[in-house]
Amino acid sequence: MISRVKGTQDFLDLTLFNYIVEQAKEHFALYHFHEIATPIIEPLDLFKRSLGAHTDVVGKEMFVIESRHEQEDQRICLRPEMTAAVMRAFIENGVQQTPWSVFSYGPMFRHERPQKGRYRQFHQINLEIIGSHAIAQDAQCIAMLDRFFSERLGLSTYALLINFLGCSEDRVRHKQKLAAFLESKQSAICDTCKVRSQNNILRIFDCKNESCQAIYREAPTITQELCTACAQEWQDLQHYLQMLSISYSCVPTLVRGLDYYNKTVFEFVSSNLGAQSTFCGGGRYNQLASLLGAKQDYPSIGAAMGIERLMLLLEQKADGVALKSQCPLYVVMPMSAAQIPLALLIADMLHAHKLCAQALVEGDSLKSMMRTANKMGASRALIIGEDEQKQQTVMVKNMTTGAQEQVPQIKLVELLKRG
Ligand code: HAM
Repeated sequence: MISRVKGTQDFLDLTLFNYIVEQAKEHFALYHFHEIATPIIEPLDLFKRSLGAHTDVVGKEMFVIESRHEQEDQRICLRPEMTAAVMRAFIENGVQQTPWSVFSYGPMFRHERPQKGRYRQFHQINLEIIGSHAIAQDAQCIAMLDRFFSERLGLSTYALLINFLGCSEDRVRHKQKLAAFLESKQSAICDTCKVRSQNNILRIFDCKNESCQAIYREAPTITQELCTACAQEWQDLQHYLQMLSISYSCVPTLVRGLDYYNKTVFEFVSSNLGAQSTFCGGGRYNQLASLLGAKQDYPSIGAAMGIERLMLLLEQKADGVALKSQCPLYVVMPMSAAQIPLALLIADMLHAHKLCAQALVEGDSLKSMMRTANKMGASRALIIGEDEQKQQTVMVKNMTTGAQEQVPQIKLVELLKRG
């Protein structure tokens, strides 16, 4: 027996998954986003350059594809996220329209230690607004997401965390202060943080170690280092969020795990998810375009939500989810092999009229077919025996009440459509 790859899942029922995607499509359309798709395989270099070589995703979690046909410098990988890919697509296709508001959904791959809500193949709904420098856009994006979670999905037990990472000059000043702060703390922090404090100091805030986090709560914060322009934008962002009645908490240690961010960063978290509490994360990335080789910068903002984590939240909802009710199922039951051709024709006629039907053609007894129809949640059984075949009728049995009536085959569709 060959088992599935560790950290992956079989979805044997996609109802909830599709519900989330459908809700997102409807919701984002109201904000004039349109759907795009990019490849699942991308050049490894795309993520090395954009996410940062010292991030966990690039340093430890990439699925690099072994291929005889690729040169070392053109290695390809399974995408771990979509932002870099969307920016690549924007530049490569010479998109002229800005802001370019697009969304996509699909599988991402990260070689993480699997646990509840954390997989090696997982699915994101990702959205980006490329080519917009206005901080009001950040507020609009966050408001759109908040309304999606609260109204579309009906979630209530979540919080929005925000922080402001400033511009590159702000971060240089902040990093210097942070390095000075960490000098006296070297013996108290974990080995990973020691390495990070040398390579990419902001990444110390991603540490999962509670004792390190306790130390970092006292660390100098980036928002204390903002230049005048950034400080104004940080204030404006909060003002817009308050004006839009969005509750949020400022978290100075929130830096997000990817290097391309500057200015606004945010996460939507829920304590109902356990250790993997973030179900949506995003922020602004003003230099990514030039980092990937564009002739100019395209200031941008975006976010991604984990579909599996949203599914976990929706499954816990006490009042359930108003899933679209499925159309009633009609099960056609030939009493013997002689009626199988007619059963196929009747099921085909129902399908031609966009009714949901299935013919049971395994040659089972009526009792067994009734059991099967019950398990399938059929609304009516359409029984065809020798008599019905001769008289060109069907015995229609209501699976809830047990009532049955003989109906001429030519009247069947009309009767079923009447409900
Ligand atoms: P991220 O925070 O790495 O951001 O991922 C976004 C979301 O994907 C997370 O909040 C989580 O719900 C889900 N997720 C991440 N890793 C896993 C995993 N191993 N298993 C299950 N779910 C997971 C990004 O990917 C950025 N590209 C978001 C963005 C878009 N920023 C700007 N634009």
